[in-house]
Amino acid sequence: MEEPTIEVTMAGRSEGLALEPLWESPEPMRDAVDRRGGLLPPALATRFPGELCIDLRADRPTVLANFVTSLDGVVALGPHETGAGGAEISGFSESDRFMMAVLRCLADVVVVGAGTLRAGRRHVWTAAHLQPALADAFAAWRGELWLTPQPTTIVVTASGNLDVTHAGLNAPGVPVIVATTRAGADHLAMLPLSSNVRVEVAGHGERVPAGALLEIVRGAGARVALCEGGPHLFGELLRARLVDELFLTVAPQVAGRDAAVHRLGLVEGTSFGEGHGRWSSLASVRRAGDDLFLRYRFEP
Ligand SMILES: NC(=O)c1ccc[n+]([C@@H]2O[C@H](COP(=O)([O-])OP(=O)(O)OC[C@H]3O[C@@H](n4cnc5c(N)ncnc54)[C@H](OP(=O)(O)O)[C@@H]3O)[C@@H](O)[C@H]2O)c1
Repeated sequence: MEEPTIEVTMAGRSEGLALEPLWESPEPMRDAVDRRGGLLPPALATRFPGELCIDLRADRPTVLANFVTSLDGVVALGPHETGAGGAEISGFSESDRFMMAVLRCLADVVVVGAGTLRAGRRHVWTAAHLQPALADAFAAWRGELWLTPQPTTIVVTASGNLDVTHAGLNAPGVPVIVATTRAGADHLAMLPLSSNVRVEVAGHGERVPAGALLEIVRGAGARVALCEGGPHLFGELLRARLVDELFLTVAPQVAGRDAAVHRLGLVEGTSFGEGHGRWSSLASVRRAGDDLFLRYRFEP
């Protein structure tokens, strides 16, 4: 049977629209000691009116996650994808790209699993990559917030089997850390990695434990880490209770795929067990056209 494809006309459906604030919780994150962000600079505020503040934890970096989901809870289309990291799920939504860019702009590190890296070999995990026309405005805002020019990309891999020509591993001015296992590091040692890529071994086993990954994030000097997936990595961070907030875009499509395989966070081997779901509270709601932008906060 032929795979259904997103209509190209969907791509422009929310182009240039403001992400209109509908509701905001007055409550900050419990245990937060400081905040990052505030009102966006004028060049960005027309698209994102009002404040965006990230609460900073005292005990460890704040961990945010960002995903786009279809109405039926599908976040990845597997081998049939024509756009990486949820682009096809969002219908190539420009508003979703804007939201992603804003979050990258506030992050010290963007963390992705190797599956997400492999899904889009031209992708670079910066705000400028998503919104080239607004690159200067995002750079200026980072400067005002005393952040480094670009967030560091952290790629998580057990195997170390990465395409060294991937754009995200070679972007000028974007530091990259590969968090991997001993075996992964041995494999990577044989590859011609770009000079901006540093390999760090995390833990002693066949996976990178979530806690060891957080130590790498902390070692990079980060106060805010943004996990952009994929579902496997997010599920592991969630299970380790390390995700503080989830920014979830709801795209107005029913993907009609096998949700057990492509569902957010809960892929095989990462379920919490019966009766152990993680609850969260709604922190804000925005909309741009038919896209809904939800922000949820998990309790410590
Ligand atoms: N809807 C959205 O917003 C969104 C966002 C991101 C991604 N996606 C989609 O999700 C799909 C990829 O899904 P996925 O679940 O396979 O992605 P993933 O979590 O990015 O990749 C899984 C791979 O990452 C590495 N990995 C993850 N956690 C690890 C750990 N704790 N220790 C060691 N290695 C670890 C392993 O790499 P090795 O195999 O190298 O060992 C593993 O095979 C793609 O289709 C992508 O487009 C969607």
